[in-house]
Amino acid sequence: MQSKTIYSHRRKLKVLPTLFVVWVGFSLFACTNNLIKNFPLADQGLLNHAKKTDHQATLSTLDRGRQLYLTKCSSCHRAYPIGKYSTSQWQEILHEMSMNAKFNLQQEKDVTLYVLSLRQLLAQAATVR
Ligand code: HEC
Repeated sequence: MQSKTIYSHRRKLKVLPTLFVVWVGFSLFACTNNLIKNFPLADQGLLNHAKKTDHQATLSTLDRGRQLYLTKCSSCHRAYPIGKYSTSQWQEILHEMSMNAKFNLQQEKDVTLYVLSLRQLLAQAATVR
């Protein structure tokens, strides 16, 4: 009887760390997955929107904007979801926040292009209005 109790106690000790590792792994996966979903990498669809504002836009212009958004624009607060604000609200916010982030003109242009193109893509997909 006693040996059985000890056995199940040992098993518990093995199960807990395993559960913990699975939980951490899953959280990391979910987090990365959300990041890609909310702030997608530049692709042709996004570039089509970007080209309406800037003929010379390329995938790497958009990637630079995305990087700035995910690193600098989330250093004082979280990276706000793009669908949270309208295009005209974003224009105002991006100008003001680019000063907060001490962006030069090129950086402001890149981050603005990424955010506004994504905003248009979301509106088109009718995810938000
Ligand atoms: C130096 C810190 C700092 C950096 C860098 C920064 N912000 Fe902010 N941000 C703030 C503070 C403080 C507020 C809240 C007060 C305010 O609205 O001015 C704010 C508010 C916001 C809001 C909410 C506005 C509203 O009215 O609801 C958005 C959206 C935002 N920031 C986006 C950005 C973007 C995009 C960037 C990058 C270009 C950025 N922030 C960089 C400090 C920062």
